[in-house]
Amino acid sequence: MTSLIKKVELHCHLEGAAPLSLTQAQARKYNVDLSQWLGPQGYLWTDFASFLQCYDHISNVYRTQEDYALLTETYLAELAGVGTIYSELIVSPDHGKRIGLGAEAYIEGTCEGIRLAKEKHGIEARLIVTGERHFGPESVIEAARFAAKARHPLITGFNLAGEERMGRVADYAPAFDIARDAGLGLTIHAGEVCGPFSVADALDLVSPTRIGHGVRAIDDPTLVARLAEVGTVLEVCPGSNIALGVYNDFKSHPLRKLKEAGVKVTISSDDPPFFRTSLAREYEIAAQEFGFSEEEIGDFTRTGIEAAFVDEDTRKRLLAAL
Ligand code: ADE
Ligand code: ZN
Repeated sequence: MTSLIKKVELHCHLEGAAPLSLTQAQARKYNVDLSQWLGPQGYLWTDFASFLQCYDHISNVYRTQEDYALLTETYLAELAGVGTIYSELIVSPDHGKRIGLGAEAYIEGTCEGIRLAKEKHGIEARLIVTGERHFGPESVIEAARFAAKARHPLITGFNLAGEERMGRVADYAPAFDIARDAGLGLTIHAGEVCGPFSVADALDLVSPTRIGHGVRAIDDPTLVARLAEVGTVLEVCPGSNIALGVYNDFKSHPLRKLKEAGVKVTISSDDPPFFRTSLAREYEIAAQEFGFSEEEIGDFTRTGIEAAFVDEDTRKRLLAAL
């Protein structure tokens, strides 16, 4: 019974959280034919590359500041409804620019959604600006410059997402230098599609406090020991990993092994409707598929708050709410 456990989510892409029904309504509003990407059963994609394509097509029906406020409030209301007290949303102001909305209006709309959700449902949220590898290092540096310059109280982190097989971490490290200098928390997608080398690169060249996924570190015991020793927190998204074929089934997923090796882990949903999951479902999976006790699952939440990109007063308040 994980429904009563307080929850935290550190890894969810905003457009990746778009509910099917909302996307359908948006597609009607803008007269966009999404039939290639959205069927009666859900979003349509076949592998990691086509998932990223599908993601971009779905994002394309969220176009205005109001659309972003609605999307954000809708997702945060859902999270609050299942006992979530804190959420970090991965956002791409660069996407706002590409669709002609503009990075500032994209962030403003999202922040309006955060304010409304906090007012109505009490959930706390922050934004992690991301660059996307498949748009190249220059666009990722631009995203970091935007986040650094914005000095926005709700933008507290920087991430790198997208096609992990494109380039090496070294190509994107200058973006993280900009974000670090601006005082932003650092996290990076690594060890999801690529193997341990990608996680090792992230540790060597970025020194993030958290890693998105990171699960494939399991193939290198020395690297697992290093993660445990440094205290890097992994944002593990089991349902996403199974949906994308990173692992065939929960039995072969390394979440439990990583935890038992002393690696700090939290659980998140990544792009929930794309992977037919939700944060509530990921907590259920932790209990039912991995056999974690309520206490162990509560530890995932606590670890999430300890690793959250928030000021210390907010962290204290969130910890006190557990
Ligand atoms: N963008 C959205 N979801 C992603 C994922 N799981 N990995 C990399 N980039 C993403
Ligand atoms: Zn992700």
